[in-house]
Amino acid sequence: MTALAKASAMPFRSALTTLAEPDLSGNEARYLQECIATNQVSSVGPFVSRFENAVAAASELPHAVATSSGTAALHVALVALGVTSGDLVVVPSYTFIASANAVHLCGATPWLFDVEARFLTLDVDLLREEFRRHVAMRSGHAVHTPTGRRVAAILPVHALGIPADLDAIAELAARYRLPVVADGAAALGATVGGRAVTKAATLTALSFNGNKTITSGGGGAVVGADPALIGLVRSLSTTARAGDAYEHERAAFNYRMTNVEAAIGCAQIERLEHFLAAKRDVATAYHVAAEGRAETALLGDPPWGASAHWMNAVMVEPERQERVLDRLSASGIGARRFWRPLHWQPPYRDAPRTTMEHSEDAWRRVVALPSSTSLTDSERAFLAEHLRSALGP
Ligand SMILES: Cc1ncc(COP(=O)(O)O)c(C=O)c1O
Repeated sequence: MTALAKASAMPFRSALTTLAEPDLSGNEARYLQECIATNQVSSVGPFVSRFENAVAAASELPHAVATSSGTAALHVALVALGVTSGDLVVVPSYTFIASANAVHLCGATPWLFDVEARFLTLDVDLLREEFRRHVAMRSGHAVHTPTGRRVAAILPVHALGIPADLDAIAELAARYRLPVVADGAAALGATVGGRAVTKAATLTALSFNGNKTITSGGGGAVVGADPALIGLVRSLSTTARAGDAYEHERAAFNYRMTNVEAAIGCAQIERLEHFLAAKRDVATAYHVAAEGRAETALLGDPPWGASAHWMNAVMVEPERQERVLDRLSASGIGARRFWRPLHWQPPYRDAPRTTMEHSEDAWRRVVALPSSTSLTDSERAFLAEHLRSALGP
């Protein structure tokens, strides 16, 4: 019996009908019970620093600060790097809106860039060209010459778990004395040049939202190598508290992760290698299914690194996208369009931007596919076979 024929016999789990759901079958319940037994459910408790150490190790970096969300992590990283009112920050238009919201929360404006066609990450050739034409160094600062505004940072996004070309971006950033704050919401496990992708940025913001490769329920982290900068991130995310006598060094945020969230995160990160291998297995199943199909590209590893395969997706001709989605939906498979570009979103319609051919194309072509780590062998085969048939010859 083919996987397609088995369809009616397959009990539909949410892993087939959603894009990514958590697998909480490790030590999660035990660690949560420990939080309750010790009365440590809030921001005090041992799981937070244990989680931070594990996140730093997985990032191949010395420091991590756990936060209440990935958005909070991005925001506090930008504030720590001095991004402020009136600044511009380079952001790709093809991303989740949180990347730009973090810039907006600093009082700054995203300078929206197109992504490259094959891997949907910041287009480095375009970046070089736009900087050559529109950015000049004045008194040690990069200035956007058409508006006279300071360019304060470059914020590449590791879209869908695919690493941006960080070595090339870091080289350009160094030339203009700019920090690189990577949105690595889904990038744990991605590499560039054989190293963790987190190593190549000034700071990286991670997300542990429920749909990420590992989750803490809600949560995030900032990872980096510079102890002074990470110290500032920690201070800014914990009300800049100086000791126990209600002294606070600066106006700051309460972006702390709780012990309960970190307890889930600790149980999850113990199984990171297993989850990453599961993501790779899902990617391989889709790859085999999509190979050789007309006008179809699977989003996979770029030449400069390896994807963490957080979200698997195929790109089809725009005129076929609706049909492929309908066919998958008719089989009970929760495939979706993915990420309406930021320059089409009301808050960012007037942001300065480049041409946007590939970001717009991505919205019309990407079909994101169920990518949960809990998918079984037979579910993966079922998904692959339905993808093959939905794509047609
Ligand atoms: C690319 C990207 N950036 C930022 C975020 C924001 O993370 P969070 O939901 O934890 O605030 C997400 C995910 O939700 C994301 O996918």
